[in-house]
Amino acid sequence: MSRGEQDQISESQIASHWREEEFISPGAGFIAQANMADAKVLERFAIENYPEYFREYADLLTWDQYWHTTLDTSNPPFWKWFAGGKLNASYNCVDRHVAAHKNKAAFIWVAEPEDEQDRVITYQDLYVRVNEFAALLRDFCGVKAGDRVTLHMPMVPELPVAMLACARLGVVHSQVFGGFSGAACGDRIVDSGSRVLITMDAYYRNGDLLDHKVKADEAVAQAEKGGASVDKVLVWRRYPGRDSSPTPMIDGRDFYVDDLLKDYRGQRVEPVSMPAEAPLFLMYTSGTTARPKGCQHSTGGYLAYVAGTARYYQDIHPEDVYWCFADIGWITGHSYIVYGPLANAATGVLYEGVPTYPDPGRPWRIAERLDVNIFHTAPTTIRMLRKAGPDEPQKHNYRFKHMTTVGEPIEPEVWRWYYEVVGKRDAAIVDTWWQTETGGFIGTTLPALQPMKPGSCGPGALGIFPIILDEDGNEVEPGSGRAGNICISNPWPGFMQTVWGDPDRFVATYFEKYCKDPNSKDWRDWPYVTGDGAMQAADGYFRIVGRVDDVINVAGHRLGTKELESAALTVEAVGEAAAVPAYDELRGRVPEMYVSLKPGYEASSEVEDQVKSAIRQMIGPIARPAHVWVTTDLPKTRSGKIMRRVIASISNFMDVGDTTTLANPEVVDEVRIAVQSAKVKAGDVPKDLPESARAEIRQFGGDV
Ligand code: WT7
Repeated sequence: MSRGEQDQISESQIASHWREEEFISPGAGFIAQANMADAKVLERFAIENYPEYFREYADLLTWDQYWHTTLDTSNPPFWKWFAGGKLNASYNCVDRHVAAHKNKAAFIWVAEPEDEQDRVITYQDLYVRVNEFAALLRDFCGVKAGDRVTLHMPMVPELPVAMLACARLGVVHSQVFGGFSGAACGDRIVDSGSRVLITMDAYYRNGDLLDHKVKADEAVAQAEKGGASVDKVLVWRRYPGRDSSPTPMIDGRDFYVDDLLKDYRGQRVEPVSMPAEAPLFLMYTSGTTARPKGCQHSTGGYLAYVAGTARYYQDIHPEDVYWCFADIGWITGHSYIVYGPLANAATGVLYEGVPTYPDPGRPWRIAERLDVNIFHTAPTTIRMLRKAGPDEPQKHNYRFKHMTTVGEPIEPEVWRWYYEVVGKRDAAIVDTWWQTETGGFIGTTLPALQPMKPGSCGPGALGIFPIILDEDGNEVEPGSGRAGNICISNPWPGFMQTVWGDPDRFVATYFEKYCKDPNSKDWRDWPYVTGDGAMQAADGYFRIVGRVDDVINVAGHRLGTKELESAALTVEAVGEAAAVPAYDELRGRVPEMYVSLKPGYEASSEVEDQVKSAIRQMIGPIARPAHVWVTTDLPKTRSGKIMRRVIASISNFMDVGDTTTLANPEVVDEVRIAVQSAKVKAGDVPKDLPESARAEIRQFGGDV
């Protein structure tokens, strides 16, 4: 049987299990006030008007110099949007709002301890802080346009201040998720070539004031191992003037920001006018190799795209109170806490801690108190809140007009709870499918114009034309009931520009699979390969199945199997390692590790613990595997590739499929019996594996 035929069989099986859901339309009240309720927009954004229709997004910004070419395709696939244009992102997010919105809150920061006062940062405050911090960066750190600076910060207002100060100078910021380990931060410092690290001494998480400064020391040490030296570590203090971390400061290297800022009080920094295609930031993400990729996002194209999508898809108006419950350390926070909302003069809520602290009523108390009317979160949080406090939302007097879900497929049942209980059957929902690479939403309904369908993200976003291709590059027709590789057929302004420092990897990862002519200058020859599997219903709506590559999506966070495996391989006894996704009711997926030992080593619980702690140390607690299985051998192809699909099926109690072509088929049963009996004993058997999880596991690792 050919690879193509096998695909077809398994995919049609998927389809037969999947029930089509009903359409649900938003209420008239929502439509009446929506930023975009004019159906003509769909005509304007028809492919015949490509690429000029994206002017509509760029025109939401203030340009120092208008562009001459909307899309320059002279060097595929390195597209240039709004070429010739110049602008500054910090000016667009801050300065230009000061005249009309000086005293309006840009951010309302809510600390995790409930007895701590909120901090309200008006547009005027933001303007002053961004300027003073930009002056410090320029004069004390000596950074200038084009330099990179790494940030490793928690959810505090100082994080957007630092990002916008970088943007003001044309400095490229690279924020590493605060929950990542110091070592992970250090690797990203090396890759980006940063000489300055901005961090914070401590922050609250689940009731504990965590020492975060210690991670800066680990990061600098790791960076040194990689041959990079960090000159300055700027440490914001959770409580200015008071130490919250026991980790000592290193003389001449570490500086408290609140001390330094005294010298910059009242300073103003002229925003540096940057070319539209100048990089604004790097965001590292996981892929198929161990080394994370620095997705480079542009100033003009990116900002235009997030400004437009925040306005039309999230329906943010200046008078709304918008709360995106994501971490700024991920792309969601960059695009839809900082840049998109601020470009629209929004008021955003920033929350420091975990959703269920001190109890699952917390988010709804915040929503009621601050009168939040737009709410944005991820399926994992929705599942958690539903499990811990299914009736809590009803007890609170808030009213959402709009809600977003993002990060992983949402089960229709969970969607319904979100709609009925959290949204009180009143809020419009957008299920926005996108990625670190894409900068902004690429698959979603336009809320006032296109009805919702539980479990489906919807059609392509305005101006985005997704297409599903099979392994041979043929289009999988809508309504065929078959899944395939979902690609985007046309470039758009929010898309990343390149992988930082590695343009070949950019081309190989995202375009090689389906580009038939690498010399072609026609964008039609360069479909973007998202790495997701998807199906399209006859009505045009897409249902995302999950990753087809070596990525595990844990609670909306992407982990590369190779990253997990390299961490496991640092353990002396481990000879081989494979990471696979196991279904988890709350987090969607959790990694399970399979390791085989070098000759002369015995399986022991010590080895398991060593693997767990290596992963925690090198990546961070979110990557912690649910189980480490020590086996004598792992199922492999004749060419020696570990069959992740087979072991993933074992972990999830699914049929392992055809194993006759393996080099060592006898190992499969051995591993299956050992792993499944241990899981049965531990009571860790998935009940009702959702169809989306089954479909993802069947295709996991691309080894069909
Ligand atoms: C991967 C990207 C984009 C913000 C957060 C994650 C999955 C994302 C959805 C959705 C189904 C989704 C995809 C994608 N994903 N949104 N609405 N429905 N799956 O960014 O870490 O780059 O992860 O998350 O698999 O490829 P990311």
